[in-house]
Amino acid sequence: MIITVASGKGGVGKSNFVANLGLCLSDFGVDTLIVDGNLSNGDLSCILGPPFPERTIQDVFSDGVTFDDLVFTHPAGVKMIASSLSADDIEAISPQNLWGVRTQLSKAADIVLVDAPGTLGANTLETLKIADRVILVTTPEVTSFSNTLKTKMIADKNGVEIFGTVLNKVRKNEKRVRRIAKEWLGTPLLCSLPYDNNVIKSSEYGRAVLRHKPRSAYSIGIRKFGAKLANVTYKVGKRRSKRK
Ligand SMILES: Nc1ncnc2c1ncn2[C@@H]1O[C@H](COP(=O)(O)OP(=O)(O)O)[C@@H](O)[C@H]1O
Ligand SMILES: [Mg+2]
Repeated sequence: MIITVASGKGGVGKSNFVANLGLCLSDFGVDTLIVDGNLSNGDLSCILGPPFPERTIQDVFSDGVTFDDLVFTHPAGVKMIASSLSADDIEAISPQNLWGVRTQLSKAADIVLVDAPGTLGANTLETLKIADRVILVTTPEVTSFSNTLKTKMIADKNGVEIFGTVLNKVRKNEKRVRRIAKEWLGTPLLCSLPYDNNVIKSSEYGRAVLRHKPRSAYSIGIRKFGAKLANVTYKVGKRRSKRK
């Protein structure tokens, strides 16, 4: 199943969500692939840190490169297809090319998480079109809700199912914020992740927060949601998880 993680603007936490949820699902034994759907500014490589994959999604039509060559197993513990970090590759493929690899993507793992760009352009549209379901990420601010609503409307127009919304960077008044988000977006609230400086700090060490600070509030929030998605039981403080 292809799940695209989208929003209405940048900076709300999509890429960190995709990277950490991908690691978490893999930890829980789910065959997971994370994909940089942002063809100009893919961030997944930087969030997971080195080593960086040699092949990127921009190589998809290069001579002698197969789809399997693009899939890199990152030592942090998840399969990924990264977007190139080089400015020279920004126009190497067009967003429409994502549709061309949709079938291969959907067969590459049981759950494929696609990280969408923050802007509402052609690239985002293609990441929505290839999805079986969309997760919307928003911060608890009206500007984020209104932009996310636009993305939801585009997904609806293209007949893509909305799985639900993730509220990220929640500081306080969670109950009120949850109510407002529901009113604005009219989608199920999948999870609420706290504002946590460890997310930013971990990037200073070139590691995803789930690996760098596994007991941080954000990591626990990711694991709680990942456990639901993976259908495993997870208790905070316990390292082990059990398949139901
Ligand atoms: N829950 C959180 N708490 C604090 N900072 C966060 C949280 N989630 C993401 N961030 C930070 O917000 C910024 C944007 O995150 P990112 O995942 O790149 O967002 P997007 O992909 O939506 O542009 C980064 O500096 C990241 O470290
Ligand atoms: Mg991003």
